Amino acid sequence: MEKIDILYTQEQIKDCVKRVARQIEKDFDGEEIVFVGILKGAFMFISDLAREVNLSTKIDFISVSSYGEKTTSSGVVKLIKDLDDDIAGKNVIIVEDIVDTGLTLKYLKDLLEQRKPKIIKLCTLLDKVSRRQVSIQTDYVGFEINDYFVVGYGIDYAQKYRGLPYVGHVILEE
Ligand code: IMP
Ligand code: MG
Repeated sequence: MEKIDILYTQEQIKDCVKRVARQIEKDFDGEEIVFVGILKGAFMFISDLAREVNLSTKIDFISVSSYGEKTTSSGVVKLIKDLDDDIAGKNVIIVEDIVDTGLTLKYLKDLLEQRKPKIIKLCTLLDKVSRRQVSIQTDYVGFEINDYFVVGYGIDYAQKYRGLPYVGHVILEE
């Protein structure tokens, strides 16, 4: 069994979503943006963010899987579901739940760059900066966290806990 300690409450997340939304509004004043959510982890964050950002927005999703632990350092990420729409000439904000090694976001950013968007920005709820293996710059960050294993607010442990309204730290117990 696992025990979950609350790391960020619903209130703290709400404030964080507002802060990130204001930054995005400031950077894209009056322009249209396309939010690209990375499934599944980012679904709750993107839905709150889209409701909070007062700009004209479109929402699309992409899904990737990384090949098990042994090969992640090679940066092998597999595309499971591509975007539905073309992003050429668009203001794209990729929305992720957690950036850990950075391999997933680097792969996706490189992939989407090839489609000639006007700009690509990276937004993540949680950033485990100390775990980075590749250099990748996150533009909008909810919270920087230490190397905790976290769940909730869209984020899973073996597909569980995505529905929790807060972000928790998993403590494994016998
Ligand atoms: P990266 O490619 O190493 O940056 O991996 C990022 C992905 O790993 C995230 O989108 C999550 O799916 C997963 N991940 C990283 N840390 C955690 C965690 O603490 N809990 C749950 N999933 C995590
Ligand atoms: Mg993920």
